[in-house]
Amino acid sequence: MMQQLFRTKAITQDTENTLNRCLSKWDLTFLGIGAIIGTGIFVLTGIAAATQAGAAVVLSFVIAGLACAFAALSYAELAAAVGGCGSAYGYSYAAFGELIAWIIGWDLLLEYAISVAAVANGWAGYFNNALSAIGLGLPEALTKAPKLGGIINLPATMIILILMGLLIIGVKHSAKINNIMVAVKLATIAIFIGLALFNVNPENWHPFMPFGWFETLENGKTVGVFAGASIVFFAYVGFDAVSTAAEEAQNPQKDLPFGIIAALLFCTTVYILVSGLLTGIVHYSDLNVSSPVAYSLQLLGYNWASALVATGVIAGLTTVMLVLYYGLTRVIFAMARDGLLPEFFNAVHKKTQTPVRVIVMCGVIMAIIAGLIPLGDLAELVNIGTLAAFVLVCLGVIVLRSTQPDLIRPFRSPYSPLFPALGMISCSALMAFLPAQTWWRFLIWLAMGLVFYFVYSKSHSKLNLHIHIHPQN
Ligand code: ALA
Repeated sequence: MMQQLFRTKAITQDTENTLNRCLSKWDLTFLGIGAIIGTGIFVLTGIAAATQAGAAVVLSFVIAGLACAFAALSYAELAAAVGGCGSAYGYSYAAFGELIAWIIGWDLLLEYAISVAAVANGWAGYFNNALSAIGLGLPEALTKAPKLGGIINLPATMIILILMGLLIIGVKHSAKINNIMVAVKLATIAIFIGLALFNVNPENWHPFMPFGWFETLENGKTVGVFAGASIVFFAYVGFDAVSTAAEEAQNPQKDLPFGIIAALLFCTTVYILVSGLLTGIVHYSDLNVSSPVAYSLQLLGYNWASALVATGVIAGLTTVMLVLYYGLTRVIFAMARDGLLPEFFNAVHKKTQTPVRVIVMCGVIMAIIAGLIPLGDLAELVNIGTLAAFVLVCLGVIVLRSTQPDLIRPFRSPYSPLFPALGMISCSALMAFLPAQTWWRFLIWLAMGLVFYFVYSKSHSKLNLHIHIHPQN
């Protein structure tokens, strides 16, 4: 019995159901940037600064970025050596066996699906503001979830259905659109940085750390630089999505580590600049608004730039959803191919070479969630799920180095096991800084996953058939 739960999957290169290999290393880097820069920097920075970290939110970004850097090196190693489009799910299958792989796959479903729904809500906020600004605002009932007094957040639902269409058409088309949108997003950030640089008032950085490092308030809320780090961590969610594109990369063993690390380095630099400047041009206490970056420019009197930035953010958030959605479908595809999810999803459409059924199923579910559940409820779950996956990926590097020392590793995380261990410690610490309620929700999701595993996946696993195709090394 125990043996069955911890059976591992041999590291193989499946020849069936191969997806179309069309993404270059720059496509992958852009895929990463497309997934990374979004709601985190454009929305959460302001909230974290105003309510948790003060001007020291820049330190929160540094801390979260450091944890991600350790995790990214581990991701890069496993993506190059183990590969497969299932990302952390696939790596844990090889390193820890089926049960842990299932748990991590189930966890990734939460991370990606809820991220898409959460970002769709943020997107809808900007979109609704833009519509109102030109006099075409929708009735409130159609822009809010029932819990907030509306009927449905229609724009949030619609944007997900539109993205569903894009992904069905095929990845190369989507990657092209992604690249254009990323360019728009970067231009937006460049405008902000360019203007903000000349408007910094150092007095805004005082007091720098009004909430200290960490404290739990009576109402259960956590504050301080570390609590801020556990929230702005959301801004980094997504670099791991690059690894889900393994089977569509032209040269995955070289290009995946490049894409993951390049995207993360770039985004960390941008975050430090933007958060430092944002709190330098506006006092942190004024930043608790839904569009802090655009709002700060408005306060400085740059109305044109504020409108431009808001437009860029709408494009930027679109790419975030697109890439995370893409990642989600690939993880499900990988799990279905292994038999842990129903066979029904294990099909690539002949004409488009995309897993159409998975794309449609996810799109419909996420569209419903995004329309009916408010942003706050969705967002807090994403970080805990992602951090848990990062911890296991770092552990996976350590385990595989000892169980499979001869595996060819085109990229090696430096200073192993020190760096992977630091990744585990820092990501676990960020989890610990999240509120208790988030932990409960996460544990309930995991419990549901375990029930599914024992009722369905265990008996349907392809490993029951003992089939392995063409060992890679
Ligand atoms: N990192 C992504 C964002 O900030 C999920 O929107």
